[in-house]
Amino acid sequence: MAVRESIDIDLEKVGQLVTEQEGLLEPKHRASIEYRETARRHVAGGVASSWQASPPHAIFIERGEGSHIWDIDGNEYVDFHLGYGAMVVGHAHPAIVEAVRRQVGRGTHFAQPTRDLDVIGENLSERFSLPLWRFCNSGTEATLEAVRLMRASTGRDVILKIEGTYHGHHDSLMFSVIPDPDLIGPREHPVTLPQVPGIPQAFADLVRVVPFNDLAAARQAFEENRGAVAGMIVEPAMMNAGVILPEPGYLQGLADLCHEFGAYLAFDEVKTGVAVSYGGAVEAFGVVPDIVCLAKAIGGGTPCGAIGATEELYRIVVDGEYDMAGTFNGNPLTIAAMRASLTQVLTKDAYDGLSHLDGYLKDGLGAAIERHRLPAYVSGVGAKGSVIYSATPVREYRDTIGIDEQVTYLAWLFQQNGGVFKSPWSKQETWTLSVRHSEEDAQRYVDNFEAFAAAIAS
Ligand SMILES: Cc1ncc(COP(=O)(O)O)c(C=O)c1O
Repeated sequence: MAVRESIDIDLEKVGQLVTEQEGLLEPKHRASIEYRETARRHVAGGVASSWQASPPHAIFIERGEGSHIWDIDGNEYVDFHLGYGAMVVGHAHPAIVEAVRRQVGRGTHFAQPTRDLDVIGENLSERFSLPLWRFCNSGTEATLEAVRLMRASTGRDVILKIEGTYHGHHDSLMFSVIPDPDLIGPREHPVTLPQVPGIPQAFADLVRVVPFNDLAAARQAFEENRGAVAGMIVEPAMMNAGVILPEPGYLQGLADLCHEFGAYLAFDEVKTGVAVSYGGAVEAFGVVPDIVCLAKAIGGGTPCGAIGATEELYRIVVDGEYDMAGTFNGNPLTIAAMRASLTQVLTKDAYDGLSHLDGYLKDGLGAAIERHRLPAYVSGVGAKGSVIYSATPVREYRDTIGIDEQVTYLAWLFQQNGGVFKSPWSKQETWTLSVRHSEEDAQRYVDNFEAFAAAIAS
């Protein structure tokens, strides 16, 4: 990571460039803007999920193929959003299309187990070094079950979570996701802040927030809640505040700490999962927690989730004391897509290609940052990465507070205008690579970034 002399970004100039770039973007999306108005009549806000309405306007998508997508105005993009990182297999991969097509013809839902389960369970056990798995329909469901499993197995209520991480939209964990800097309180005692209205204070009282990459702070939280902590949930590499990597020894230290205090450690691998390596963060960082939560990339683009855990933790589920259940859990369409993704597409070899592209992209971006002396650096692992707009290393959420959202918005506008589709522009979002991306695709990203860097540095 380069920490060197850099320019001061002129925010007034950034503001002018934003206006210019917005002016270029809007005419490209006339059909999207109009369609949203039509949808608004009976769909709240005209979109299916709040983040689809991120400024400047919602973009409606027509289709995807490989690394490319097309919107309803006919614009073509290289897709680095990839459905918030779910499409590491790329769009409409022939193996997934075939698996889903075959299953559609054989029935799409029975709420009974089907015969792909053992293959998937074995594959995930090999990747993540945990023996037992169950399935659900989203990352939210996976982390919900992880929290409940830790509470049920210990008979304790308190959960530790990291400040600035997102684990889905359920009431047990939707705290201090992107907390307001004015309300977060002191670093040694962060306030547990609900991310949205409607979450009772009683739930907040059961969650203790700690900074990432700080074992002493985690120990302090365990000590102050002695005998009350069921477990800790952590994204092994933070993926929603740019990519923030764990420092050496941090994850193993957390595992040891949890066990010392009779608690469990859960990795939320919803984003890292089968994206950062064949065996996710478990393989990339060499630490096996008690629980792994998966979703997104394991399902090849179908709604999916999985919870892996030790035999000890799954005992109450296997014995029938705890019903881990859902009508669509293990839905045959998802399971068919998951089997094809895990066994035919995201094979060990696929990660060599991803790692090559990761290097190509990072080198190109790093060189542009260097050339224009931007106060920024590139961070990432495997298929996931981000430019972090800070001249000094970011180790935790609070280090990102000074990053100006106008700058990240401008970077997003340059990408979008240059034919690269990125997830919403907030400073938190990462890029995702798929097995269908090429050097040419990565070069388009680098070229747009170069144009952005030249514009703000000139
Ligand atoms: C780390 C992490 N955990 C959980 C979730 C929730 O997953 P889902 O949106 O599938 O419910 C997300 C979603 O982005 C996530 O990034």
